Amino acid sequence: MINQIIHGDCFDVLQQIPDNSIDAVITDPPYMKTDLNFDKTGFNVDLFLELLLLKLKNDGQLAVFGSIELLAKFSSIYPIRWSGFWLKPSGVMRTHSAKKPMSRGEPYCIFAHPKHKVSNLVYNKILLPGEPYKKKQNNTNFIRDGKDQIDRANASAWTKDGYISENEGTRQQTDVIEAPNKSRMKHYERTIHPTQKPVKLISTLIRWITNSSGTVLDPFCGSGTTALACKELGRNYICIEKELEYYRIACNRLDQPIEPIPDEPIEEPEEPVDNHPLQLKLF
Ligand SMILES: C[S@@+](CC[C@H](N)C(=O)[O-])C[C@H]1O[C@@H](n2cnc3c(N)ncnc32)[C@H](O)[C@@H]1O
Repeated sequence: MINQIIHGDCFDVLQQIPDNSIDAVITDPPYMKTDLNFDKTGFNVDLFLELLLLKLKNDGQLAVFGSIELLAKFSSIYPIRWSGFWLKPSGVMRTHSAKKPMSRGEPYCIFAHPKHKVSNLVYNKILLPGEPYKKKQNNTNFIRDGKDQIDRANASAWTKDGYISENEGTRQQTDVIEAPNKSRMKHYERTIHPTQKPVKLISTLIRWITNSSGTVLDPFCGSGTTALACKELGRNYICIEKELEYYRIACNRLDQPIEPIPDEPIEEPEEPVDNHPLQLKLF
């Protein structure tokens, strides 16, 4: 079953997956909000949540897209770690868009298994390239409520009249993930699946919450984006799709040669030891 796309109903296939074997569920279930056939059919959310509880390791995590109502249902069982948005380059129509604003953000939530230990949860910081900078701050900017807000860990960055912050040119990936939506996806990535997610978006979630030995489950895999991202990042995957047409598309995508995404995030410089006692400057 490992590293396969399985054609079938996830409610049947999930029964065959060994309990306590999945490190992360990364999925984009039917939204049950549109006129698409798979959306109109929907799925039994309560049963799905129960099944996942068995299959996920105790320190496993879930990254789920969906409506606020669906994510709220997940949160009734799985504690929320954080939530964020997939930010699209431009607004897209919602159903009944005459009565609602166009939408640029699609919410996702990261959940943990209810039995998790925080110290065991995987979180890999992702650093993105950016412009280097060096700036000097006036230290009074850092005094608030009588407390010194400066991180004085770096002795060399602290001068008589201020604090120099430096950055070599990296920025931490925020919870807002920018990626193209379907009309702007690179040609080779786009398939006919109506709700296909960009690989970059799914890769970001995978990198955050799994290590390279981890096994990812996507029970609603559509055009196989999760499988492709796992293959590129060297993660194991089990992906399930009910519709034969989408299952075939997913298999074809995996057969194409891929350019592996470098897995290792840019190294952050080691934090220097703070050997300067904190001196409070009061107003
Ligand atoms: C929102 S789409 C996922 C799209 C996917 N993220 C991608 O990038 O292509 C949901 C998919 O779940 C499939 N699906 C719906 N019910 C299913 C079920 N019970 N078992 C397996 N797949 C199902 C639908 O056919 C649809 O392709």
